[in-house]
Amino acid sequence: MIDLHCHILFDTDDGARKIENSINILKEAYDAGFTEICCTPHYVAPQHIKTKLENKEKLNLIEEKLKEEKIDIKLCLGNEIYVTDNIDELVKNGSVSTIADTKYILVELPITQKLLNAEETIESLIFAGYKVILAHPERYVYVQKNIKYLDNFIEMGAYLQGNYESLIGKYGKEAEKTIKKLLKEKKIDLLATDTHRENSTYTKMNKILKKLKHYAKKDYYEYVTQDCQKDILKNV
Ligand SMILES: [Fe+2]
Repeated sequence: MIDLHCHILFDTDDGARKIENSINILKEAYDAGFTEICCTPHYVAPQHIKTKLENKEKLNLIEEKLKEEKIDIKLCLGNEIYVTDNIDELVKNGSVSTIADTKYILVELPITQKLLNAEETIESLIFAGYKVILAHPERYVYVQKNIKYLDNFIEMGAYLQGNYESLIGKYGKEAEKTIKKLLKEKKIDLLATDTHRENSTYTKMNKILKKLKHYAKKDYYEYVTQDCQKDILKNV
C-alpha cells in the first residue's frame, strides 16, 4: 500500500519528535503492508515553515537508517499546506513541496470555520496547473453539516483524501458519519493515515480495512486504497 499523508518526518511539525520515532512508525507501516510513504509535514505560517531543503535533509537521514535496519519502504516528500493565497509562489520558491515533485498538492482547509474565498483559491491553483488534493474533508465541521459544500470542489477537479481512522471514530461521530457518506457516494479519491505518532493508524489497519470493505466495494476499494495513489505518483 501507499500512504500519501503523514507527519513522520522528525522534528518538523507536531508529528514525530526524534528520528527514533520516525523509524518506529515506519516499522509499524512496513508491518501493516505499506511499501511507499510520502512524508507531508504541515506548512502553516508562522509556526511550521521548514523549507523543502530542510525537510529533504531529514528525509535522507531517515532513508539511511531504513537501509541500515533493512526496512524496505520507499519515501518521498510533500507537504500538507494550510490554505493560503500564495501557494503557487511557495512551491516556486522552495518553501513547500508538491507530492513527490508531481503536479499534485495536498491542501488543508480550516477545521471549524468556512474560509470565504476557499473556492477561488483552489480554483486558481487548478487553473495554474496543479492537481489539488483536499486533506480529510470529513473532519471539517461545515462539511459535516452540509456535505454538498464539497460539490463545487469536486466539479472543479479537486481530489478528496479521507483519513483511514475517521472510519473508526478517531475524530468523533460526525467525522465518522461523514466519511461513510462520502465513501458510499464514491466521492473520496484516496485514503491516507495522517499519522503523527507511534501506535496509531498503521497498527490498526486490519480493523480499518475490514470496516472499509462495507463502504467501498471491489474496484472502488482498490481505487481509494492504492490505484489513485499510484496515479498520483505517476503524475497522471
Ligand atoms: Fe495531516
